[in-house]
Amino acid sequence: MNLTELNRIATAMVVSGKGILAADESSGTIKKRFDAIGVESTESNRRDYREMLFRSKEAMSQYISGVILYDETIGQDARDGTPLVKLIEQSGAIPGIKVDEGTQALPMCPGETVTVGLDRLAERLKTYYERGARFAKWRAVIDIGSGIPSMTAISVNAHALARYAALCQAAQIVPIVEPEVLMDGDHDIDRCYEVTSRVLNKTFQELRVQRVALEGMVLKPNMAVSGKKCAKQASVEEVAEKTVRLLKACVPAAVPGIAFLSGGQSDEEATSHLNAMHKLGPLPWGLTFSYGRALQAAPQKAWSGKTENVAAGQRAFSHRARMNSLASRGEWHSSLEKKAA
Ligand code: 13P
Repeated sequence: MNLTELNRIATAMVVSGKGILAADESSGTIKKRFDAIGVESTESNRRDYREMLFRSKEAMSQYISGVILYDETIGQDARDGTPLVKLIEQSGAIPGIKVDEGTQALPMCPGETVTVGLDRLAERLKTYYERGARFAKWRAVIDIGSGIPSMTAISVNAHALARYAALCQAAQIVPIVEPEVLMDGDHDIDRCYEVTSRVLNKTFQELRVQRVALEGMVLKPNMAVSGKKCAKQASVEEVAEKTVRLLKACVPAAVPGIAFLSGGQSDEEATSHLNAMHKLGPLPWGLTFSYGRALQAAPQKAWSGKTENVAAGQRAFSHRARMNSLASRGEWHSSLEKKAA
């Protein structure tokens, strides 16, 4: 393992003013997104859609540091035969790959899951590296509810995340470690804080036990937010203050960067929360976005599967990418959204 090179890539992924596009929706998830805009989820439609994003010159060259791909996409060619991975490299962004194989029910733990995909992962990582991937992603899912999460679910998911991260580094691939605490419940922000803190502490304990080099990874956490169904929604300032406090308490400064998931926040919430965190003064790590929905909802709607809408889709994508780029420097303001509209 060449840790200097892993650190160089991890640092480039979270460089100030840029963030990561999570375009790694599984076939099931992208079908849901396409259903919402009335587009059939065929292989060529998925290719056309992602080609539109990767050919968005302004967004890709100025605001996007890396793209997380799905297994199908990393092997796909653009309409003119150029591999999609090449389009990403040519824009100056780094190609990455989602390598987990989703979740399965966790025995003895009703309502909880464990993320799977460790079998044969070493071989798969070798192939992905040959195809151009320089970083990977593995997402663990922790739900908050009555009596959950259990320590069992937190432990097994942290163990799998660390196993994955160690295998990635051995294959010269930067692991994005993503322990996502869902925001679906009716819990308040303090409960989210407490659960996320337990999850992050356990995850870093496992990373140490399994000898993962913190300098060669990126953390992809949720923010501390109120559950979607909670009657009392925390303000932007409270989310920013509690999230930064939580991360400072749990994430060692040796980690080069943290890139948030959006997790069901609206586009503007995801942007304003990140922006507010950067108003809180110097931080020990790079802090940016790795959004899926909060970067893609607008371009998906603008495109709606029509060739004549490609330019509009690219404009919508570039706009969201620029807003988040500004937020990653603490330079975003809501008036910039209105101007664009
Ligand atoms: P969202 O930003 O839509 O949560 O997706 C990010 C991601 O990669 C989840 O694994």
